[in-house]
Amino acid sequence: MCGIIGYIGEENAVYFLLKGLKNLEYRGYDSAGIAVLSDVIKWKKVAGRVEELCSRVNPREMSGRIGIAHTRWATHGAVTERNAHPHFDCTFSIAVVHNGIIENHRHLKEILREKGHKFSSDTDSEVIAHLIEDALLLNRDFVSACMHAFSSLEGSFAAIVMKEGEHKIVGVRKDSPLVIGVSARGIFLASDIPSFLEWTNRVIYLHNYDMVVVDADPAPDACGDVRNVRDMCDVRDVNNHCGASHCGALSALTEKHASIRIYNLNEGLVQRPVDSVEVDIEQAKKGEFRHFMLKEITEQADTIKKAIQQDEETVKNVIDAIKNAFGIFFIGCGSSYHACLAGSYLFSRIAKTHVNAVLASEFENYEHFLTDKTLVFAVSQSGETADVLDAVRVARDRGSRVISIVNMMGCSLTRESDECLLMNAGPEICVLSTKTYTSQVTLMAMLAYALAGNYDDFVSEVKRLYLDIYNLTSRTMRERLCEVAKMLADKEHIYLIGRGLQYATALEAALKIKEVSYIHAEAFAGGELKHGPLALIDKGTPCIVFVSKDNASKIISNAEEVRARGGYIIGISSVNYDFDCWIKVPDSDMLNPVVQIIPVQILAYQLALLRGLDPDKPRNLAKSVTVT
Ligand code: M6R
Repeated sequence: MCGIIGYIGEENAVYFLLKGLKNLEYRGYDSAGIAVLSDVIKWKKVAGRVEELCSRVNPREMSGRIGIAHTRWATHGAVTERNAHPHFDCTFSIAVVHNGIIENHRHLKEILREKGHKFSSDTDSEVIAHLIEDALLLNRDFVSACMHAFSSLEGSFAAIVMKEGEHKIVGVRKDSPLVIGVSARGIFLASDIPSFLEWTNRVIYLHNYDMVVVDADPAPDACGDVRNVRDMCDVRDVNNHCGASHCGALSALTEKHASIRIYNLNEGLVQRPVDSVEVDIEQAKKGEFRHFMLKEITEQADTIKKAIQQDEETVKNVIDAIKNAFGIFFIGCGSSYHACLAGSYLFSRIAKTHVNAVLASEFENYEHFLTDKTLVFAVSQSGETADVLDAVRVARDRGSRVISIVNMMGCSLTRESDECLLMNAGPEICVLSTKTYTSQVTLMAMLAYALAGNYDDFVSEVKRLYLDIYNLTSRTMRERLCEVAKMLADKEHIYLIGRGLQYATALEAALKIKEVSYIHAEAFAGGELKHGPLALIDKGTPCIVFVSKDNASKIISNAEEVRARGGYIIGISSVNYDFDCWIKVPDSDMLNPVVQIIPVQILAYQLALLRGLDPDKPRNLAKSVTVT
């Protein structure tokens, strides 16, 4: 989805903004733009990649200490330069970048047009700049004009604005992410932490309806309501201390430093703590790997171990909540939903506990079953997925308890949950979920075993798995899968089948293949083949079969049904059941969903390469899906 970044500091904003945009690329986008403020605002936009934008920005012509930038994932208006952000008011002196959807933009546009405003794009976002311009006409100052404009927006938004003649940037968020990065080199506002992680790990998480003003020229008496950046950076300067008994902030602000004020549109001035994120910047880099996708696949031997490193007290609380619940739901989207489905089988098989796995976007249909005894597990790598957040709000409105399983601490979902389990997988940059999917499944298996009182056995099992996963991601395995990929690269369709836990794996495997190679891949529960899908099988149609020792006979019969109609059977299992092509994986019983998906992750990666595609950035997709 769209990524936004703003910078205010000592150095040329262009460098930080373009680098920040590159770091945001993984979120998915189709156009990009930048605006920098010196005396006037200068900007550049492209309907294309950030590299193209970089090549069109001449830092000698465009420089300034304040700026904003954007990667756009089109929702309103085609992918064109005119619709790329930043957007402007009528005089091109107010610039805005926005992520989210302004639901009442048509109504607002009508009012603004009647007042004579001229729009230059087809986007919903442009209304923000005109609303501010309009509020300024009523003799408001810039900050209160922003406040006024933001208060009239409906929908989801994270926006950053700047204006000629004002040495500040103003940001706001509601249901779309916006975090502040506090560094000695400047202040960042951005959609997510990786965009500025190479300059700082000190962050302030904004809440819904928070509006932040980062000011390069703070008022000299700014005390109490101004949070001085140097204070937050732990740069001590006793000479500048305010001295007022009520105020621990520095008050005499030099021109070297910006100040940060945070207002909540409903509550007025608020304080938000500065947190440190414990993310190793190297983790967010490709290192020796050609692509993040491959790097993240190979990290799984470590990440599944990290997934079970949980705070004992939190796990105990979660287990108690499960035991006391009447009605449990696992909700998620995409791969996270597949993990939920696997989790529902794991809970049934290991802990004999009934769980409903539901797509987050369909969850509202179940609202009548929600009470204050219901327990909802919201599973999301990003913790920003709008469908998940909406579903959680439905649950909370009914008084249900929410436990989230997320990878990004400080994300919106954690703030809407009663308890939170972290996947500890480190940043996942590739748009495809790989390591976080296996972490989610591992965490769910851990909860099921803990519920059944077998937690210790499970921990030994995960430790044993380390070597298996290491081997599954080895160069030898990758080369073997490259050969399989060569057989499949020109196919139009690939079908995948499994039963029980392997059905969840088949769904996830199909998603991996289709999203990265653009080959049509579809998964079926083995038992469903004869109810329709068998009609699709023709001579040479590839069908990947996931087999676990405990349910081998039925799924092998299904595979035979496919072969009898000309299908080409690729088996993923510990035993070769006379497959046309066999990919050997160890049988890991309840952890089969973790080991069996790995060969298909690699296969999908190889397919993308053979088809000349960028595995990290599939077309039309976004890492964080912040619109519903
Ligand atoms: O951040 P989330 O886990 O909530 O994201 C959910 C889906 O958007 C995500 O899993 C998506 O399906 C991935 N592209 C799968 O590879």
